[in-house]
Amino acid sequence: MVRTINNLLLTMHIVTKQITLLCLLFSCASAAISGQVAASHSLTVDAAESVAPIQPTMYGIFFEDINFAADGGLYAEMIKNRGFEFTLPKTGWLEPNSDRHSMNENSGMSDIVKVKDDPANQNYLRVTVKNPEGYHLLNEGFRGMGVREGDTYDLSFKAGTGKGDLSAVTFQLLTTDDEVIGETTVSLAGDGWQDYEATLEATATDPAARLRLTFDAPGTANLDMISLFPRDTWKGRNKGLRKDLVQLLYDLEPGFLRFPGGCIVEGRTLARRYQWKKTVGSIEERELLVNRWNTEFDHRLTPDYYQSFGLGFFEYFQLAEDLGAEPMPILSCGIACQFNTGELVPMEELDPYVQDALDLIEFANADTTTAWGKVRADMGHPEPFNMKYIGIGNEQWGPEYIERYKVFDEAIKAAYPDIVIISGSGPFPDGEYFDYGWEQLREMNAEIVDEHYYRSPEWFRENATRYDDYNREGPKVFAGEYAAQSVAIASPENKNNWNCALSEAAYMTGLERNADIVVMTSYAPLMAHADAWQWTPDMIWFDNLESYGTANYYVQKLYANHAGTDLHRVTEAGKPVTGQDGLYASVVSDAGRGEVYVKVANTSDAPRQLDITIKGKSLAAEGTAYTMSGTDMDAVNSFDEPMKVSPVESEVTLRKGKLTATLPAKAFAVYKLQVAK
Ligand code: AHR
Repeated sequence: MVRTINNLLLTMHIVTKQITLLCLLFSCASAAISGQVAASHSLTVDAAESVAPIQPTMYGIFFEDINFAADGGLYAEMIKNRGFEFTLPKTGWLEPNSDRHSMNENSGMSDIVKVKDDPANQNYLRVTVKNPEGYHLLNEGFRGMGVREGDTYDLSFKAGTGKGDLSAVTFQLLTTDDEVIGETTVSLAGDGWQDYEATLEATATDPAARLRLTFDAPGTANLDMISLFPRDTWKGRNKGLRKDLVQLLYDLEPGFLRFPGGCIVEGRTLARRYQWKKTVGSIEERELLVNRWNTEFDHRLTPDYYQSFGLGFFEYFQLAEDLGAEPMPILSCGIACQFNTGELVPMEELDPYVQDALDLIEFANADTTTAWGKVRADMGHPEPFNMKYIGIGNEQWGPEYIERYKVFDEAIKAAYPDIVIISGSGPFPDGEYFDYGWEQLREMNAEIVDEHYYRSPEWFRENATRYDDYNREGPKVFAGEYAAQSVAIASPENKNNWNCALSEAAYMTGLERNADIVVMTSYAPLMAHADAWQWTPDMIWFDNLESYGTANYYVQKLYANHAGTDLHRVTEAGKPVTGQDGLYASVVSDAGRGEVYVKVANTSDAPRQLDITIKGKSLAAEGTAYTMSGTDMDAVNSFDEPMKVSPVESEVTLRKGKLTATLPAKAFAVYKLQVAK
């Protein structure tokens, strides 16, 4: 029997080999027929010399609450407008049969009650029920609620009863077809605010469920902070983050987490800037803010987009810690978004802004006897977060920025000389604002300058040498926001297609080759809700139940998972490989892991035969290739095909320190080689 199985396996092995051979012959033949002969390229790697260290921060994450990335996304709250604090306080809440709508005097209705003197809690809902059979309230969630069969959902709310017999509320999860798929009834203790908690078990899966509230008897009830979370969050934290989304971030092994944006830091007006102090402490005390992306683009209006700050600065620091990433908060420098109002805080009124920065460092790093260190400890993290970086301003430009930046720089360095400050060079990768910003920041001995480029795929392929001739004296570079735009910047037609991802992969060899000056990089934006986005392309797409990484995500992941610790020179005929014949290359090694990573992109239409000689390190004979390839440049990943454009793993063999491999047309590969023991 064993022999029969062995024979069978042997036959299968031979057949497989023959099929592989046939495939190889076929692909060679078809390449030859189509004129796609694999041109040979001999690359040489000097693995003995480390040209520069690769900073652990080299590949990181840029997080911004755009595209419902926080509320409705990473922050797992399922109720939209839980505290009735939106500008229209009943946004997200429906009352299909209210007296007000149906003029039916027998059902019931709700009213918003205003509370004075508490900016974070200005409203609550008063429900007046006349006929319990005829009245209910619904919350629509963030384009529905993602509910999964068998999962538990934690409900909490505040309530107090008033006149009448009303003494219980029933909460039901409803499918799109109004079928009940989870239910719990909570008895109310009487008047005066009380906190209540309950759970719902889902009996079916629905991507767009809603929560229905019904009442047991005529009477009144006051309701506030009605909240529903999946129990199964990242690390099982109560009222925590969506597990699948954090997992995608975790898998990137990011070197840093920049938060909370982006333009969201600046606000359209100064009053609407991001103020971190309003995002910490008890959830109920976090003052809601309209999201600046809500009506930014006429083509993607989302007037129901607010920031609850349930994902606030404490949670961002905690997330960075969970991811093993350096936290990198960015703060307002006293200028509102210059694409909007450009409102400026007068210089003599800048102090509170500067104080916000100093207090943030205290919040993150100081001991628990300090005022802000105590706030951190009270929130459950007495140990410091060890924050090393702080960003001042996002995409600001002109003398107004430099003038304000100087004040921050002096104050921060005086109090915390070890904190590294990130400054900005404006929204564009070249031009007047950019040149002026860099010149001024260089003069001031700025430490790290943030550059942004949202450009065409061609731009990315043509600019892989961008940093080769950068001035090495002075500030380092943070390539803080970049993404190839398949149509035009912020066009709603942009796609996360293979053309963009491959162009970014090619470009990133240039970032890596210049790791002595480029010390941080991040793709932007990070996330988008498929039914509620404003900006595309984005690295990760999700709906209320599912999520997937784009082709761009897998390029980032290949780089970040193989970031290495030391940069090595790779050349062809003595020159860096920067797009000649469509080939781009960079090489790093990882001292701790004892590995060498050779990254090669082929943007040409034909395969490339690579002979890569690695000098100065003795390598094991077998290595691994992670290859992304495909000639359909419009190919994208999707909910149905989440891995359509993703790396394929295969073995490679080295002979006498030489790696020979065929890189397909339109491909990006990372060759992982082991240093021999
Ligand atoms: O990533 C989207 C936006 O692009 C960011 O908020 C901003 O910094 C840039 O203009």
